[in-house]
Amino acid sequence: MENLKFKNGDTMPAIGLGTWKSAPGDVYNAVLTAIRSGYRHIDCAAIYGNEAEVGEALKKAFSDGLVKREELWVTSKLWNSKHREEQVIPALEQTLKDLQLEYVNLYLMHWPVALKEEVGIGFPEGPDQLLSLEEIPLAETWIGLEKTQQKGMAKHIGVSNFSIKKLEDLIQHGTSRPEMNQVEMHPYLQQNELVAFCKEEGIHITAYSPLGSGDRPARSKAADAPVLMEDESIHRIAQKHDCSPAQVLISWAVRRNTAVIPKSVNPERIQQNIDAAQVMLDEEDMKTIAGLDKHYRFINGAIWTMEGSVYNQSNLWDE
Ligand code: A2P
Repeated sequence: MENLKFKNGDTMPAIGLGTWKSAPGDVYNAVLTAIRSGYRHIDCAAIYGNEAEVGEALKKAFSDGLVKREELWVTSKLWNSKHREEQVIPALEQTLKDLQLEYVNLYLMHWPVALKEEVGIGFPEGPDQLLSLEEIPLAETWIGLEKTQQKGMAKHIGVSNFSIKKLEDLIQHGTSRPEMNQVEMHPYLQQNELVAFCKEEGIHITAYSPLGSGDRPARSKAADAPVLMEDESIHRIAQKHDCSPAQVLISWAVRRNTAVIPKSVNPERIQQNIDAAQVMLDEEDMKTIAGLDKHYRFINGAIWTMEGSVYNQSNLWDE
């Protein structure tokens, strides 16, 4: 299995299990199945609403001797309503309690978006529940994350959904730089500039929604949205390698030296997705896929950019 290497020598397995949209009731079995199938990387977040059940599965996996804590990479994410510096440690304390862990391997700022505390672990009902980045600067939230690392609650810290500009600002103002940026990434949203920037700056990338997130919420589905998993070129490459389209997509992410977190709650597909590590795409395949970019976001953050919000598509993604 490919690994991402961190400066302190830690390694993160490139393929992890995504748990966004995995319903309570499903995620327990998904995590256990994944660990039995050889996954050593689980991607979580407070907003997924299932960390307590993931924690039950982890406890079972440890007590059954399926894996040791030090062999497993667990990522979690700080929710937007907890961006004040003093809110960050309590937020991670709750996540650690839910996950039944003493530390996470990686803790990420989930979005460069701040919400009023009253929203809790949820979504805003109107524009007045959003706070601007002048009101709570990302640099303030970052200091909170640094403190979790200093306390040993998080081995590594990073961000998610950050643009090049926001990374640059954080690098300039923070005492430490993020080690990870987790972003939507797949052949329809290749983000070559961001990949090059992060490589240059020593920031790892995790690709989320690598399969095009066909089960994303209806509110995020435009009527004319393309369907990545039905792409003809991806299907042709899958036929050539006698593998599935999902495996081509996962293998593509690994070939680009990013981590990738396909979500599944289905045992066969969980196995299939980690087996994608054995699919070796060649130069011709990579060239074909390079030509598929549509700069298309399945997850465009519209939930933050409603009428009257301080956030819009431009200041969210380009600034
Ligand atoms: P399921 O959980 O029933 O397997 P993403 O990781 O981009 O968010 O995509 C997740 C979606 O892709 C889910 O609907 C998931 O369904 C589906 N999925 C996961 N793995 C595979 C696979 N190997 N083949 C087909 N669909 C998959």
